[in-house]
Order: sequence, then structure tokens, then C-alpha cells
Amino acid sequence: MPLRRRLLVLVALVLGACLLVGGALTYWAGLRKIELEMSSAIAVGSSAVMDALNTIQGSSDPEAQLTRIVGAFDGDRHLVARLVGPDGALKSASRLKAPVDPPPAWLYELLEGKIHKQTFTLPDTLKNLGSITLEADPHNEVGEVWEDLQLKFIIISGFCGIVLALIYASLGRALKPLDDLSVALKRVGEGDYSAHVAEQGPEDLNLIYRAFNRMADQLRTSEEQNQRLNEQLSTVQEEERSEIARDLHDEIGPFLFAVDVDAQSIPLMLARNATDDVNSRAGAIRQSVQHMQVHLRGILSRLRPAMLIDQGLTHAIEHLVAFWRTRRPAIVFQTDIEDARFPAHIEEAAFRILQEGTSNAIRHGKPSKIGLSANRTPEAALQIVISDDGSGIAASTKRGFGLVGMRERVAALDGTLEITTSKEEKGVMLIARIPLPAERRAKTSDNKQATSAA
Ligand SMILES: Nc1ncnc2c1ncn2[C@@H]1O[C@H](COP(=O)(O)OP(=O)(O)O)[C@@H](O)[C@H]1O
Ligand SMILES: [Mg+2]
Repeated sequence: MPLRRRLLVLVALVLGACLLVGGALTYWAGLRKIELEMSSAIAVGSSAVMDALNTIQGSSDPEAQLTRIVGAFDGDRHLVARLVGPDGALKSASRLKAPVDPPPAWLYELLEGKIHKQTFTLPDTLKNLGSITLEADPHNEVGEVWEDLQLKFIIISGFCGIVLALIYASLGRALKPLDDLSVALKRVGEGDYSAHVAEQGPEDLNLIYRAFNRMADQLRTSEEQNQRLNEQLSTVQEEERSEIARDLHDEIGPFLFAVDVDAQSIPLMLARNATDDVNSRAGAIRQSVQHMQVHLRGILSRLRPAMLIDQGLTHAIEHLVAFWRTRRPAIVFQTDIEDARFPAHIEEAAFRILQEGTSNAIRHGKPSKIGLSANRTPEAALQIVISDDGSGIAASTKRGFGLVGMRERVAALDGTLEITTSKEEKGVMLIARIPLPAERRAKTSDNKQATSAA
């Protein structure tokens, strides 16, 4: 059952129970009131009849007097007086005041109670005239209870109706955004992260809507970032592949051709017995092969930088610089890489930062000089600096993933990244500081102590 209907049924049940208890209480109070009214009416009526009977003795027309006594009760709300002859025949009776709103028979039966009746026997001299009876009739009293009941019922049911209507309306308003939320959740489930819900309604639900909207925003940002990263990755891969293809074509191709030409000429030289020429050709072939080996190593190190880093940061950076020197001979590279080993993950991060920093400087800055350094600082951090004298980062620069990736890498290692201008007020200076782990530091200082002790 929906929440709204469930709550309404619950409230209706409680109000219904209140109505029943109210009805029962009214019934009980009515019973007591009628009993009290009837007995006191009989008591008052009895004393009036007694007084009247005392004055009747000397009357010249006692029967007329008796009829008057009975008639005096005409229009009474509770009592009916009757004059009954000695043979039991009714001689005269008073008329009860008719109730304004006669109660239904079932209520009368429920509330009637015991019958209050009093018979007055006349003095011996008047015995032949019969007797007077007084009987309490609860019709008017039940009528009052009936009016009271009707009024209470109208008030309580009006109240219940208003309460239920208010609950229905306010719950409807409060829960309406929940419907929106379930629609939005469905959309998010289908991958549409633009789905949002209006942040309105009661505070506790509002918190949920706000959290949902934040979640959807976060998902959308992640998805966009993912998409951009994927695009970036494929362009980087594409660039890398074309670079390698160019390398193979431009660097390896001519040497293969040279080796082929040299190899073809050797049999001719042998036929001529030109041993010296054969030797110089063989030397040329070896040179070509060595050249190709260097280039192949360069290509392999681009394909598998991890292999390079395994041999130390200094070695990896030498390769990186050698790679760029052959491609950009005009650029002067200055390197200052500490010849020490650092934890593998820090060496890898340092290499990636130096690699991206160098390629950014070359691709975007058109510099004549690039400086690369990685050294331990007195604060036990590895400080990596890449500086160039190129154009510098333009203010209107679009956000790429290289700098973002660098920042994330450094942050993951609790380090800092600073991008400023170079000392010559030209170009870019990138400074990354990565704290070195304590155990490493401890070991190093142990070593130092051991060395100084030795
Ligand atoms: N050394 C630099 N000299 C000049 N501009 C730079 C340098 N490094 C970064 N930039 C600028 O910052 C932008 C962001 O760099 P990056 O995050 O590496 O992305 P990408 O290299 O893919 O463009 C570059 O597009 C470039 O405009
Ligand atoms: Mg870049």
C-alpha cells in the first residue's frame, strides 16, 4: 500500500476509535443523567401530589380537585400523572411535553433504564374515586441526549474530515518530489546523469534530494573526465605510434637500405679480390647495425619506460634526453639528476613528471634551453624541476591532462606541484616536491652514520 494511503488509513482508524470511545462515554453519561433526572422528577412530583392531596379532604368537589391535580402536570417534560378509577379504568391523564427532536426508537430502548412509578392511594373517605399514579417518562431526556449525540458527531466527524483532508494534501505536497526522485533515479540508472530533482519539501527529504543531485553531478563529471581521458589516451597513443612509425621509417629504413647495398657489393669485391674494400664494407655494415641498435633501444624504451626506470632515474633521464636531442638538436639540455635510488613508485612518478614536463616545453614553448633536475632536499623530499626559456604558459591556455595528471600523481604521494616562470622571467618552471618515506630516510641516515663511523 502506498505510504500516503497507509498513513491516512492509520489516522482514520485512530479517529474512528476516538469516535467509538466518545460514543460509549456519551452513552454512559446519558444513562446516569436520565436515571438521576427521572428519580428527582418523581421525588419533586410526589411531594407536589402529596401536598395537593392534603388540601383535598374538605373540598366540596373532590373529584374535580383530583382532575385538577392531574391536569397540573400537563406540559411537564418528565412526568405523566393519571387518575385511575377503583375498577382500574383511566379517568384522566396529563399530557407530556412532546420532545422537539424525537429520539429514534433504538436509542430510546438503549437509554430508557428502569421505570420510575409512584401510586398515591387516596384517604379512606375518597377511596371510591380511585387512585393517582405518577410515572417518569424519559422521552424528553433521551431527546436531549440524542441532540447532544448528533452535535458531538457532527463536530467530531467534521474535525476528522478536516484532519484527513489536511494530512492528504500536505502529504501529497511533501511526497510529490519522491515521485520525481524515483523517475530521476531511473534515468540515472539508464546512464542519464543530467537527471535532477527540485530541492524543496520537508528538510529531511530535502537532504536526500540534495545528496542525489550532488551524486548525479559527480557521476556526470566523472563520466566527462573519463571520456576526455579516453580521448587523450587515444591521441597520445596515436601520436606515439606515428612517432615510432616515423622513427622506423626515417632512422632504421635508410640504414637497412645501406646494409643491403653494402652486402650486395661484397661478392663483387670478393670477385675482384679487393680485400681492403670488403673490410671497409663490413665495417660500414657494423656501423649501420650499431646505429640501428641505438635507435631500436630508443624505440623500445618509449614502448616500455618501466624497463628504463628499473635501471635508475639517471639512466632513464639520459635516455629521455638522448631521444629528444636526436629530434631537436637545436635545444640545449642541462640535466642534474641525483645518482641515487629512490623507492620505485617515486622514481616512476619522477620520470613521468620529467617526461611530460619536457614534452610540454618542447611542444608548447619552443625553447632554446631545457633544464631537468631531480635532487633530494634537506627536508627529505625529492625535488624535481623542469625549466625552459620558451614562450611561457599563455593565460588563455586550455586545460590539458598532462598538468592535471602531474598534479594528481604528486598529490597521491602527498607532494606539491608549483608552476612558475623561469628565473630569466621567460618560459616555464615546474617544481614538484615529493616527500621521501620515513623508513627510507632512516635507512639513509643509518648508512650515513655507518659511513662516518667507518
Ligand atoms: N612549458 C610550457 N610552455 C608553454 N606552454 C605550456 C607549457 N606547459 C604547458 N603549457 C600549456 O599548458 C597547456 C596544458 O598542458 P597539458 O596539461 O600538458 O596538456 P597538453 O600538453 O595535452 O596540451 C598546454 O596546452 C600549453 O598551452
Ligand atoms: Mg602535455
